[in-house]
Amino acid sequence: MPGPGSYWVGEEEKKQVLEVLASGHLSRYGNLEDPKFTRKVFTLEEEFARYVGVPYALATSSGTSALLCCLLAAGLKPGDEVIVPAYTFVATYSAAAFLGLVPILCEIDESLDLDPTDVERRITPKTRAIMAVHMLGNPCDMDAILAIATRHGLLVIEDACQAAGASYRGRKVGSIGDMAGFSLNVFKTITAGDGGLVTARTEAHYKTAFGFHDQGHSPLRAGVEVGRRCLLGLNFRMNEITGALALAQLRKIDLIIAALREKKRKFKDQIADIPGMHFRKLNDASGECGTLLTVLFDDARRAASVAGALGTKTVAKSGWHVYANMEHVNQYLKEQGQPCGKGAYPRTDDVLSRAINLSVGVVDAGLGAAFGININSTDAEIALAAQRFRAACKSQT
Ligand SMILES: Cc1ncc(COP(=O)(O)O)c(C=O)c1O
Repeated sequence: MPGPGSYWVGEEEKKQVLEVLASGHLSRYGNLEDPKFTRKVFTLEEEFARYVGVPYALATSSGTSALLCCLLAAGLKPGDEVIVPAYTFVATYSAAAFLGLVPILCEIDESLDLDPTDVERRITPKTRAIMAVHMLGNPCDMDAILAIATRHGLLVIEDACQAAGASYRGRKVGSIGDMAGFSLNVFKTITAGDGGLVTARTEAHYKTAFGFHDQGHSPLRAGVEVGRRCLLGLNFRMNEITGALALAQLRKIDLIIAALREKKRKFKDQIADIPGMHFRKLNDASGECGTLLTVLFDDARRAASVAGALGTKTVAKSGWHVYANMEHVNQYLKEQGQPCGKGAYPRTDDVLSRAINLSVGVVDAGLGAAFGININSTDAEIALAAQRFRAACKSQT
């Protein structure tokens, strides 16, 4: 089971889904006055908006479609450049590419998020937006990113797909930039199997995102609405069963985050004094999700041998998220005349070659997190994982 939400699917999710099945209403639309319509997607949107602290939320079919909705609703046009980190999931790039935008890759720093100094270096007259990807549940340095965006008149779209529940300086991620996209796939803090959410701070962004996600219709669609469709859209709707599952998970999110943070603290405390190794930089140590514990060695060779001894890989060698390992992304960048292939982003290569992701809540070999603990680990299991990690570091010097 890959993500923390998946581990905690239980009676609450079952109850929500059974209510939908009993009602017979499977579509997100229905008569709000009809007591048989259980309005799970509408309720999810209301509760998520309240949770994040924004006026609007829109449920979608995936995190990828949520990002597409954000980029389109933000008014970005083909040829516009969007700055994205060189360490992120492929969907951050593909959402931009499918709208004809040009993703401009940027170095990360030891937070494994965007390096604000490099963001500013990559701004050109065509740059319109920064995609702040809160990687592995760790919020970006949003003060620095917002300051750059203000200086250059850029939009900030948060890719919060890996960070539902995280906050930065007291504000939930998803409420800081202009718009944000979240994922509910099985690797995430909360899950519905698949699904996504958009958050927006203005009615205009929300309405355009809504129309794009459903063939141009308006939010309280009742029928075909001839003459009132504001744009050409697609179908990225969430159905009621997914909405029901997501709603049950959303109502557990604070418990999930609290459990992750507690387990992570215990794991971290037991390995903190290992020489030649430190933890990744956290832009808000008390606001990050705690889904992973990323360690950085002083030297890449040692990181690789410790990872090998634990049956895992350094982040640089993991299959997902590393620009150099995504052949399809590199092909696309090559066609765009952008730097591509290993070596194109040397600081990112260096950080990732020294990093190992230890699982806390997300157990995913594809992320390089095949070793560690999970959200249900007991104190004894955490101590054992810490002991094994210490032994591997001692034997691989
Ligand atoms: C950073 C990031 N962006 C976007 C996505 C896309 O989300 P989904 O898989 O729900 O389409 C993911 C999912 O793994 C992700 O991690």
